[in-house]
Amino acid sequence: MKKTVITMQEMKQKGEKISMLTCYDYSTAKLMEEAEIDMILVGDSLGNTMLGYENTLQVTMEDMISHSAAVSRGIIDTLLVCDMPFMSYQVSVEDAVRNAGRLVQEGHAEVVKLEGGVEVCPQIEAIVKASIPVCAHIGLTPQSINAMGGYKIQGRTKAAAKKLMEDALAVQKAGASMVVLEGVPAKLAKEVTEKLDIPTIGIGAGSGTDGQVLVEQDMLGMFDDYVPKFVRQFADAGTMMINAFAKYKKEVSEGTFPNEEESY
Ligand code: KIV
Repeated sequence: MKKTVITMQEMKQKGEKISMLTCYDYSTAKLMEEAEIDMILVGDSLGNTMLGYENTLQVTMEDMISHSAAVSRGIIDTLLVCDMPFMSYQVSVEDAVRNAGRLVQEGHAEVVKLEGGVEVCPQIEAIVKASIPVCAHIGLTPQSINAMGGYKIQGRTKAAAKKLMEDALAVQKAGASMVVLEGVPAKLAKEVTEKLDIPTIGIGAGSGTDGQVLVEQDMLGMFDDYVPKFVRQFADAGTMMINAFAKYKKEVSEGTFPNEEESY
């Protein structure tokens, strides 16, 4: 059955945990659909994992649209969430609505995600008014890396915890359908989850959230530029791929690939 933002809200009410993974291409999206992952996030982390950038700040609307459209062609029931890239929503509410619309029309996204709390509530309200569901993203927000002074756990002091709770309540009030909590102490993430009616999706936020999200390459063991403490590697696909590439090279050099059956 097709999953929607309503499905996610019902899952929270029933106490069923929500699974979300990032994905950036058609063939991997098909595999995630087969595994019945609830939601795919076409994250702007594609700047790191797909494009080799140091951070997400150079990612463009065109990058997001192209990867989101590719993922959309590989899924049927999975809910498709797409990130709004840096500077696609910060300048004005009008920009935010227009760019959210492009992610839906050209990228076939079903939900758009944007980073920030109280300060982006006017954008969330306007996008929701345009009938586009929004996933908010608070706590450690990678698009603010320069302002935060690096990738740092947020909400550690009493004042910062209060601000995070205010942000969570504000994005819910503005109409967000769900909220990603990134890089937040587990106890605080649990408190926010209990306070909110909308689902919380955690990354580096402990087990008390309504769902979890991980970056595909991190959980598959394919990306070792930087492995944060919260990542669990569910497979060692990186080693498997290196071995397969090396085996291919060996068999090509030896002349044993292709054989007669593999030839016309
Ligand atoms: O872009 C991304 O992958 C994200 C997740 C870390 C939540 O925003």
